[in-house]
Amino acid sequence: MLAKVNSCALVGLDGVLVEVEVDTSRGMPALTIVGLPDAAVKESSERVRAAIRNSGMFFPGKRITVNLAPADIRKAGPSYDLPIAVGVLIASEQVWTQAVEDALFVGELSLDGSVRHVTGVLPIAALARQQSIDCIFVPAADAPEAALIDGLEVIPVEHLSDLAAHLQGLRPIPPYEPGAEATSLAAPSYAADFAEIKGQEHVKRALEVSAAGGHNVLMTGPPGAGKTLLARSMPSILPRMTIDESLAVTKIYSIAGLLPADTPLIRHRPFRAPHHTISHAGLVGGGHFPRPGEISLAHNGVLFLDELPEFGTRTLEGLRQPLEDGEVSIARSTGTLTFPANFMFVAAMNPCPCGYYGDPVRECTCSPSTITRYQKRISGPLLDRIDIHIEVPRVDYQKLTDERLGERSEAIQARVERAREVQRARFAETELLCNADMGPTEVRQVCVLDDAGRALVRAAMQQLQMSARAFHRILKLARTIADLAGSERIETAHLAEAIQYRPRRVV
Ligand SMILES: Nc1ncnc2c1ncn2[C@@H]1O[C@H](COP(=O)(O)OP(=O)(O)OP(=O)(O)O)[C@@H](O)[C@H]1O
Ligand SMILES: [Mg+2]
Repeated sequence: MLAKVNSCALVGLDGVLVEVEVDTSRGMPALTIVGLPDAAVKESSERVRAAIRNSGMFFPGKRITVNLAPADIRKAGPSYDLPIAVGVLIASEQVWTQAVEDALFVGELSLDGSVRHVTGVLPIAALARQQSIDCIFVPAADAPEAALIDGLEVIPVEHLSDLAAHLQGLRPIPPYEPGAEATSLAAPSYAADFAEIKGQEHVKRALEVSAAGGHNVLMTGPPGAGKTLLARSMPSILPRMTIDESLAVTKIYSIAGLLPADTPLIRHRPFRAPHHTISHAGLVGGGHFPRPGEISLAHNGVLFLDELPEFGTRTLEGLRQPLEDGEVSIARSTGTLTFPANFMFVAAMNPCPCGYYGDPVRECTCSPSTITRYQKRISGPLLDRIDIHIEVPRVDYQKLTDERLGERSEAIQARVERAREVQRARFAETELLCNADMGPTEVRQVCVLDDAGRALVRAAMQQLQMSARAFHRILKLARTIADLAGSERIETAHLAEAIQYRPRRVV
């Protein structure tokens, strides 16, 4: 007797349909799994056997062969337990084939038959929809995640015996109905608020511009000036995500197994701040079964690298391609995988090893050659990709002890949101989300300068020895500043502010 059950494998971020074929024949009782299974899939045979027995059904004393087709895709993880168990039940005539047509199964089994959480349910549900499969059986814990895909019947499974009773038509399991929790858009509360940060008004302004258009920022300043504090307050002023952006982020977290149990949909822009000891693969992604790295986990959000020069040179150079393309390609012997990685890059550093170079109060104790060596750790091409270079000077006593609070993050976020609204309308016909995503064609179309503006940029290009990339980045930045001001045209003042954010190498 041969049974066929649909399931799903994950290749990078996308699901691929896998047919689980179960065949029983006479011979030594055994369960063999073929079709490029990894260790977790191979161990499935033991879990399935115990789960079926412990759910009050019988496990056939026959020779059972399970094939996971297509055979050329690697199958990883325990999510095939459920389809294999269903296949065995059909092959041993405890469930009829008709019951599983047009359905897809994923889930891990425990020995007592209860069904446990698996990763990647969102992309799996998306695949089911794409393949016109009407119904998906998932672990009950993952039902809210699968229900994010419209037009799909989601059956939450708690226990294998429930599933068997459902498939036998004895006790149907009601489909999952998304509750209020999946759609509510409550504002999150943030640990840090811009109002608590004294002084540094120009830095706050720069971060506002950066959040409004999705531009990259580098903050330089002496120890204790508030760089880390400012960067960590950024989530409170980031614009809200659209539902499509949310789904894209959730997909990545689902695959990485980082989706919190109580949040089926990630609604807040991610903020990732890896430590500088992170490996190259940890940052950009990779591994034997390639996993998304920090840059992909920061997709549609912020990647914050504190103490930038401490990150290895090779690690930092790995950021160059994703910063330009908004995605990362990982080459493997089995082919190239692409993960999305369109993030805002925020970095902080001291100007020199002692930290006080350029400080008006405390003298720097580093030799010029040490300073040069320190700053050279960050390559020119990487610096060129950063739109906003901003100095964060020490705050003086008076400002620090001023009891008055600054502007609240909420007010700043409202302005950022308005500027994003303008950008959404501008890019409605395209795939772009914000000004920083623009390519040369869009720059030419929407960043039109008048004569005075052109003269200003020409002078700046000569003085600051700017590259063609820097030129385009200035125009995009000026566009964002104009959007924040609610201006249709890019005025000279907007351009001047954008140019002022370009780096002036101090040594
Ligand atoms: N502008 C500020 N307003 C209020 N508190 C501040 C400000 N700047 C610094 N502080 C206080 O100083 C602490 C240290 O600041 P922070 O860690 O951001 O400094 P940093 O610039 O990152 O220094 P380092 O270069 O040593 O990493 C903060 O946690 C906060 O308590
Ligand atoms: Mg710091």
